[in-house]
Amino acid sequence: MAAATLGIDIGASGIKGNLVDTANGAVVATRYRIDTPQPSKPEAVAEVVAQIVKHFEVSEPFGCTFPAVVKGGVTLSAANVDKSWIGTDAKKLFEAATGLEVSVINDADAAGVGEMAFGAGQGRRGVVVLLTLGSGIGSAVFVDGDLVPNTEFGHLELRGHSPVEDWAAASVKDDNDLSWSAWAKRVDRLLDHLEHIFSPDLFILGGGVSRKWDTWGKYLTSEVEIVPAALRNEAGIVGAAIVASRSILA
Ligand code: BGC
Repeated sequence: MAAATLGIDIGASGIKGNLVDTANGAVVATRYRIDTPQPSKPEAVAEVVAQIVKHFEVSEPFGCTFPAVVKGGVTLSAANVDKSWIGTDAKKLFEAATGLEVSVINDADAAGVGEMAFGAGQGRRGVVVLLTLGSGIGSAVFVDGDLVPNTEFGHLELRGHSPVEDWAAASVKDDNDLSWSAWAKRVDRLLDHLEHIFSPDLFILGGGVSRKWDTWGKYLTSEVEIVPAALRNEAGIVGAAIVASRSILA
């Protein structure tokens, strides 16, 4: 087996890592998860990243996702994490904490990279839009397989709801005890809106709720083909490892 690459997925509530065989997208160890420190200040999060690197005894470059706009390793927004991330050089911070080279990419973009390489988007050309439905809504757009990064569709305004993730994220379903159909109708409205703007060839819907696809996928009415993510909650870890191994982004 080719040497495995570490992927770390940083979320609002948990930070998860695993080793990935980037030749086939398989996770090859047992996932290691640590609660996201609260408050989720940069130094505290970097400390957890270093703990995960140590746990897997990694000495090669690795990849990290982050739930924000990320450009050149710098995090430029902070919707669900401590505001001090805005303008933080996350790449530099994680590299200082671990002594290793790190690629940092938006979490939904990473999930998209994973799905396009080894999941529901494998071999798909045209315009593919992936949404992650979790604490927020993340998005990734691919044109003929190439990523258009940092699209942040969860921050669109829709029918007076701004950002739309505060109305249609999976967490909103739980927080407000919405039925699957009531919540799925909200997602459907967002898909309808995106369909009008992008005329996509495929929607991929990810996040933890993709496991329950049979329960709510039937409420979606878009004309566009819609499929659940195939890599489920591992997509971000797999994508982060791919980015690190292929240096897709800086
Ligand atoms: C963040 C995105 C992220 C999404 C899912 C949003 O609040 O702005 O960057 O992809 O949550 O975690």
